[in-house]
Amino acid sequence: MSTASNAEMLELRPRALQPTISVVIGAQWGDEGKGKWIDILAEHAEVIVRFQGGNNAGHTLYVDGQKKVLHQIPSGILRPNKIAVLGAGVVINPVELKKEIEGLATMVSIDPQRIWISGRAHVISPWHVYIDGIKEDLAAQPIGTTRRGIGPTYADKVSRTGLRVEQLIDEETRHRWMKNVRSEQSDLGVKNSDIEAEWAKFDQAAEYIAAYVCDAEQRLRECVAQGASILLEGAQGTLLDINHGTYPFVTSSSTTSGGALASLGIAPQCIRSVIGIAKAYVTRVGEGPFPTELRDSTGEFLARKGHEFGATTGRPRRCGWLDAVALRYAMEVNGCDQLYLNKLDIISGLPEVKIAVAYEHSRLGRWTDFPVNAAILHECQPVYETLSGWDAAIPLRGKISQLPPQAQAYIRRIEELCQVPVEYVGTGPGREDFLSK
Ligand code: IMP
Repeated sequence: MSTASNAEMLELRPRALQPTISVVIGAQWGDEGKGKWIDILAEHAEVIVRFQGGNNAGHTLYVDGQKKVLHQIPSGILRPNKIAVLGAGVVINPVELKKEIEGLATMVSIDPQRIWISGRAHVISPWHVYIDGIKEDLAAQPIGTTRRGIGPTYADKVSRTGLRVEQLIDEETRHRWMKNVRSEQSDLGVKNSDIEAEWAKFDQAAEYIAAYVCDAEQRLRECVAQGASILLEGAQGTLLDINHGTYPFVTSSSTTSGGALASLGIAPQCIRSVIGIAKAYVTRVGEGPFPTELRDSTGEFLARKGHEFGATTGRPRRCGWLDAVALRYAMEVNGCDQLYLNKLDIISGLPEVKIAVAYEHSRLGRWTDFPVNAAILHECQPVYETLSGWDAAIPLRGKISQLPPQAQAYIRRIEELCQVPVEYVGTGPGREDFLSK
């Protein structure tokens, strides 16, 4: 019989788990250029994982001068022998996923060993896409969604009426679910013919993706146990997070590092590094507060020079100065230990650059923390620090120390304000275009 006391038995014994996972998180409102860094970092990873969002994301990559936009599959797929995973927190549009896999198969070798789709992920149906559009059209205050059915799919997931991928690939379950949804459609007076063709494609795509479906989370935990190097690819950004973003002007998933763990069912001890990606300025698509937005010629200049049009919807992005209040908040929420600053080339050549270091509210005074309430944030004016600009011609590759002193001062100020080191600086769209510390 054991002689251990209750207190001894309750002793907390840490389980040895290997920290093999790096997480890449958008530190602004999405479109920070995560795809480029995932593609670069994927060289050193064996498994690359999406953990939230769906085909509302658009990761633009330039490989050998060729532009490639991926919406659902992690961009690491473009490198040979890497495994790309769509994990449990993701929502999947099977029709679009089929198209994406077929498109990729013309460029790289694809097989079910290389793409793992979680049976736990939820499915975006033609009905979800339809409802997203209708809600936006009828809303007094639209969110400016991508109209890809993301919100309605997550809503059904949480309401426990959604369809999981494991159910999608079971013909009987799928057809039962489709029948229920389509009768709901008729009850609401939506003519089936409106989306009839979409349902047929949906049914076919379900069969197509079945070969890739597995218990992706179990496989991932096995990879962790074996010490495999894993990269988690965030989509959207921290300020679009359902809990920590500018609610209600957010997406419907957890875009943060904590959200990644919850979605994938992996332990916090497995995380080796959290990398925040930000642009050297800020952009936002859709509605919602944006204190440093520039509705002037500088804003237009950033949009034009930075090609700021949505990769998914083609919508013009709103542009503004770097917001260090929001960026520090994102660093803290995610526990970022590194910051990669993208698109420095776009603000190079301006006579001066500004950083918001606080907000001023007419009634509530000065804020140095990111407000909870989106309406208050909307009423805030940025308090700027102005720094000297630098020459447009910055080195494309090499070291951050090779930048003009004013550009280095800009980066140092961001590090001071956010308390996170800037390890890399993006200088162009290509895989090789960056400076390191
Ligand atoms: P949804 O994710 O389509 O529901 O859209 C909700 C909000 O998130 C809208 O403001 C969208 O513009 C924004 N959003 C969704 N995906 C992205 C993205 O990949 N980049 C930037 N914004 C996004």
